[in-house]
Amino acid sequence: MNLDLEEYKNTEEAKYQNTEKILVNKHYYLTKNYVPKNLENISTKYALSGMKLVKKAKESFEQMAKDAEKQDLTIVAMSSYRSYNYQVNLYNRYVKQDGKEKADTYSGRAGHSEHQTGLAIDVYNKETNYTNFEKTDEFKWMQKHAQDYGFILRFPKGKEKETGYQYESWHYRYVGVEIAKYIKNNNISFEEYYATKIKDW
Ligand code: DAL
Ligand code: ZN
Repeated sequence: MNLDLEEYKNTEEAKYQNTEKILVNKHYYLTKNYVPKNLENISTKYALSGMKLVKKAKESFEQMAKDAEKQDLTIVAMSSYRSYNYQVNLYNRYVKQDGKEKADTYSGRAGHSEHQTGLAIDVYNKETNYTNFEKTDEFKWMQKHAQDYGFILRFPKGKEKETGYQYESWHYRYVGVEIAKYIKNNNISFEEYYATKIKDW
């Protein structure tokens, strides 16, 4: 899992690009030019305007939000695909605000944010600030069902060391149904899954 390596040292370009197996974190990066294939706009019924995800993730996300809606729950994407340059500005803004050390606990440096894969989303319910998503019924519903749509909670509580980030109740990653169910059932992080099931040692 690269836990023996220092963060952002000896980084490598992310493998399995344009697939659900891609791992982007403090050890694996995407280049400036990486723009995922098949990006599509998420319906504004389920997202703020201009939100894009890779087609498969988008379709699955919309289905999930639609099924949640049937239970009177509101799941809305407030951030999804972010370009390299967008992340440059976002990260720099956080560094100005909180300093580099703190910013690194919650924001990816450019090239190291999985938002650049087009497979990650931040959600909220339109009423509660996203940082309190954990307290919402929508969160409870997603804890039960997100894996059935191929999504995992990407930065779980207790996995900060593996993922390199603080707990984020609002950030989900599309990995496909099979991998999502495995990760959920085994209570592991994507880093652990990648190291044991994907990485070709
Ligand atoms: N907030 C997550 C870690 C990111 O910036 O990719
Ligand atoms: Zn996020």
